[in-house]
Amino acid sequence: MYVPERVVTNAELAKMVDTTDEWIRSRSGIERRRVAADDEMTSDLGGKAATEAMQAAGVTPGDIDFLVVGTTTPDLVFPNVGCLIQDQLGIPVCPAFSVEAACSGFIYALSVADRFVATGQAGCALVIGAETLSRITNWNDRSTCVLFGDGAGAVVLQPSEEAGIISTHLRADGAYKSILNTAGGVSKRPDMPLDESLYIQMRGNETFKVAVRCLENIVDETLAANDMDTSEIDWLIPHQANHRIIQATAKRLDIPMEKVVLIVQDYGNTSAASVPMALDVAVQDGRVKRGDVLLLEAFGGGLTWGSALIRY
Ligand code: UT7
Repeated sequence: MYVPERVVTNAELAKMVDTTDEWIRSRSGIERRRVAADDEMTSDLGGKAATEAMQAAGVTPGDIDFLVVGTTTPDLVFPNVGCLIQDQLGIPVCPAFSVEAACSGFIYALSVADRFVATGQAGCALVIGAETLSRITNWNDRSTCVLFGDGAGAVVLQPSEEAGIISTHLRADGAYKSILNTAGGVSKRPDMPLDESLYIQMRGNETFKVAVRCLENIVDETLAANDMDTSEIDWLIPHQANHRIIQATAKRLDIPMEKVVLIVQDYGNTSAASVPMALDVAVQDGRVKRGDVLLLEAFGGGLTWGSALIRY
């Protein structure tokens, strides 16, 4: 993973909008978040996380033959962030693209890369989740600005005789498009300044309830598809939007919180970056060990949601 240097605490936000450290901690579990420097783009964060992932996997840019990035905050309309990272790291000609599925972006990207590796069409895939959500955050809106942060995480996928990614499961329901979105973008130009039209708008409480329901269902489906039950999961690595969503999901699934990786307190909601960042934190601190069964899940605007069952 890679996160920008600048830490923004709840106390700092309380000077900017009508909020308190106590409200933010108790409603979301967030204590601080990272915010990218003005000259730091999504591709910079993603490129740095990718470099760490390649080092950990013992591969070089020359080995990569497939590159996919989950992001909602691309540097540019085009070239896509995958191409920008390809150029930045000196990765040879290969498919390079980004997947736009909000907070589920990494799970979507992982699922696509898994299919290419499993069918032999890719031999070494780089999968990245990277975001600069601070660029589409309305810093005057207390209901959203306290929640989001910037960061990136990455993994390398290679073929193996042993199961690595056991299965992935993707879902979306566009009927919920209005509860979490931006008012404008590239093709849709509402009558407001472009910056403002890109601000995240969320009906938080509604999103919360749908999130818990969808995540419970997708975890159940994932386990049923593999004839497994929750006691066989060593680590739940959830999207880090809100500690109460994570707790409620774990409770419904009867997974003790000791088996849940939580980083929301340190980084807030980093959208597509949150799951690979949480995975890295738990690998680096020694919690996740070789052979452990991991259940990754995410939920976000669209609405989109998904899961990945992995033997690490
Ligand atoms: O990652 C993609 C998916 N995103 C999510 O899953 C996020 C889902 N939603 C949430 O995490 C929670 O709904 C929030 C953390 C956003 C809000 O928590 P909540 O318990 O659902 O609160 P609420 O929206 O029902 O608001 C409660 C009160 C409201 O005041 P009134 O109407 O009760 O007087 C808000 O105006 O809290 C007020 N409020 C705040 N107060 C202090 C909203 N934001 C703030 C704030 N500081 N920053």
